[in-house]
Amino acid sequence: MVLADHDISPQDRDDRRRRDYPKGYGLTFPVADYRPWDIDPEFLRLFEAVRAHTKLDVYRAYALYTLGQQAAKTAGAVLEVGAWRGGSAAILASVTQPRTVYVADTWQGVVKAGPRDDYYKGGEHADADIDTVEALFRSLGLSNYRLLSGIFPEESAERIEAEQIFSLVHIDVDVYQSAKDATEWVWPKLVVGGTVVYDDYGFYGCEGVTAYLHELMQDQRMRVVANLNGQALAMKLC
Ligand SMILES: C[S@@+](CC[C@H](N)C(=O)[O-])C[C@H]1O[C@@H](n2cnc3c(N)ncnc32)[C@H](O)[C@@H]1O
Repeated sequence: MVLADHDISPQDRDDRRRRDYPKGYGLTFPVADYRPWDIDPEFLRLFEAVRAHTKLDVYRAYALYTLGQQAAKTAGAVLEVGAWRGGSAAILASVTQPRTVYVADTWQGVVKAGPRDDYYKGGEHADADIDTVEALFRSLGLSNYRLLSGIFPEESAERIEAEQIFSLVHIDVDVYQSAKDATEWVWPKLVVGGTVVYDDYGFYGCEGVTAYLHELMQDQRMRVVANLNGQALAMKLC
């Protein structure tokens, strides 16, 4: 199987082309020739299985897949905050077995939208539920996961053992305050060399998360890489 160029629907591409973007935004397709996902049968099988359960395109999904493979070789669990229908979390759980993947969502949509968030108002992405996620994980034969329902961290982080450490974290919550609160909760528990992946850095509508990453770029405890597939990665240095 070879995935289509850019992996977005013609409708999505046309909608984005018609958008009246503000300065600093515009449809962006960085050019490269290497397509390792096209020759990785395990990834293709997994991506096909989760495709209807994720908003991630193949580039971001593959980045998580390879980061998960690396994290599986080190100590520490995996955390995802913002799971929706469970697709990205299922990729992480598949490749990091037998590590535990903690999967957090309100399953009632986005929360904590505020003045830094231009598009999100709260309640978006409520078209998902915990049973759908559970069914996806089971269909993939996965058992190395724990589902945490509620606003993270306030309502669900207490269900994670106090001594738990993490090597890989995926934060996909769309707004400034949720991204900041999740980061501040997990950072002391992240191993040195551990990575937090932010899904929303490079997307029009997620300006709050972009602003938060710009704050993190001033933080000497980490190295932040703004990846042109839309993700940003924060790696813990000390
Ligand atoms: C874009 S969706 C996640 C997409 C998913 N990672 C995927 O594979 O497509 C964002 C999710 O974040 C959740 N969310 C936002 N803020 C949250 C918070 N503070 N605690 C828990 N879930 C949150 C929303 O309920 C929503 O399901």
